Amino acid sequence: MCGIFGYIGTKQDASTSILEGLKSLEYRGYDSWGIALQKSDGTVHITKHPGKIGDAKAPDIQSSIGIGHTRWATHGAISRENAHPHTDCTGDVVLVHNGIVENFDKLKTELEAKGHTFKSETDSEVIAHLIEEFLTSSQDLGNVMKQTKQAIDGMNAVIVLFPKHQTFYIIKNGSPIVIGKASDGYYIASGASAILPHTKEVYFLEDGESAKLTTDALTIFDKQGQEKQPTFISLPYDAQMATKGDYEYFMLKEIEEQPTVLQTISKSGYEDIQKAATLIKNAHETYLIGCGTASYAALAGTYLFSKIAKRHINHSIGSEFSYLVDFLTDKSLIIPLSQSGETIDTISAVDSAKQKNAQILAITNSIGSTLYRKADTNILLNAGPEKAVASTKAYTAKIAYLYLLAHEMNGSYDKGIDHLDTAIKAISTLIDNQNDIEQIVHGMKDSTSIFVLGRGLSYPAALESALKIKEVSYVHAEGFAAGELKHGVLALVAKGTPIILFNPHDETYEDTISAAYEVRARGGYVIGLSDTNHEAYDEFIHIPDCGDCTVIPNVVVAQLMGYYLALAKGFDPDKPRNLAKSVVVK
Ligand code: AGP
Repeated sequence: MCGIFGYIGTKQDASTSILEGLKSLEYRGYDSWGIALQKSDGTVHITKHPGKIGDAKAPDIQSSIGIGHTRWATHGAISRENAHPHTDCTGDVVLVHNGIVENFDKLKTELEAKGHTFKSETDSEVIAHLIEEFLTSSQDLGNVMKQTKQAIDGMNAVIVLFPKHQTFYIIKNGSPIVIGKASDGYYIASGASAILPHTKEVYFLEDGESAKLTTDALTIFDKQGQEKQPTFISLPYDAQMATKGDYEYFMLKEIEEQPTVLQTISKSGYEDIQKAATLIKNAHETYLIGCGTASYAALAGTYLFSKIAKRHINHSIGSEFSYLVDFLTDKSLIIPLSQSGETIDTISAVDSAKQKNAQILAITNSIGSTLYRKADTNILLNAGPEKAVASTKAYTAKIAYLYLLAHEMNGSYDKGIDHLDTAIKAISTLIDNQNDIEQIVHGMKDSTSIFVLGRGLSYPAALESALKIKEVSYVHAEGFAAGELKHGVLALVAKGTPIILFNPHDETYEDTISAAYEVRARGGYVIGLSDTNHEAYDEFIHIPDCGDCTVIPNVVVAQLMGYYLALAKGFDPDKPRNLAKSVVVK
């Protein structure tokens, strides 16, 4: 969703850094963009555009202070007027905003009655006029920003440039804001990876905190408005890892990084896994929660813990969890799973659980993120920056952690590692032979529906696989428990409908073969994934038996299918329409 990038410091090419910063935030999803630059004569140059940045050049302006924004439309159409930055009536207040001002309607009516003129339909512009209004009774910017913070409802992050004072003020109550400290000044962004080319030293602003930045000083104020000493952390990866390198798309780069990510978990994940196993053993009950792909990892966790650790662990979709918290106590353990650590539905679920004093063990890929900071205990996926909207390596890393955790609880950690290592080899082979998958996908590119079937552990894998295919290729894809076929799904199978069938050699094997016959009898085209070919398959993809870890290479096949299907249909797999990488509004 919306992205913010700002710079205040000593170098004169803020313009270039801001444009580059916005480009590196493109993965979040946006539909218009804009930049405000303060010139040396004190005036502010604002440029705004509907659409993508594309080949746009940075404004040719010398400046050492500026803010940029990528907008994901909520209030008002995608237009130049509605793009950020927004200003007040005088131009003395210039701002960018992430979030939703829930009481904007009421505020707008009051401000219009006081004579303010609005240029856009956005809730964001209301903040600029509100600040202008407060400035009529006080020139103390800190005080004005405090009033502004109190007056706006909702989860918001706002950076305000006061050109007359050459100062930024930031208020935050929701959307992420990271401040980087570099030798040439301060960088501000909604995602840490955008700051990486400039510095690794970052401070994640907490909800309720605010900040004042000038060319050479940063002051952080706590929730009560008192000055506080910020503790900067060092990001554990470098700028190179957040770039495409020789790849055309992040999605393929991230798919191909999976063997390395999983090897790191296999070699050095034990300490974290032990820590988490103890927490689960001591808890009265445990819930795995997450959204989208992370919710399917949570569901997989329920199966893995039941099968391997002989322990029932609940799972819930993040946005549903606040309706399930009534029985939680201080003995409950909540495990939010999240790549970004910023998904608002997962964060709200955690907040509801915290109100019941439940313990939080966050499994995220983003050090310093909101979930990371809210958790009592953290496990970092260490998958490196994931920038394609479709989550790939963060998903398989989550499954690997849950799998090893279940084995640790069962006292069979070494067996888990053996299976994970076999799965890593299987993924490498799939990646080496990805042309075969590309070929199969060519035969599917005109299909209007694709179904993915699996039983047991392969059921959540089927759900995730269908999500991967649909979100990047826009082909209707659905995952089903293979046993559900005859309860309704069969009605959807027509001549030639591709059916991806996960059939590992486990307790589900024979029943899944029956499913293959059932769909074939209705004309379905069965693509079987298994360790041995079978006459019930029209197409066969060999996946070696990796025990319960077989689900990992199975999903990698679907990731590659989604990727190649998107390319075959002429879509950009990194930036699917209507979707954002970080879903920070409800
Ligand atoms: C994954 O491919 C999706 N784009 C999406 O479902 C994502 O997994 C979900 O929004 C949760 O994100 P998170 O892991 O950052 O919390």
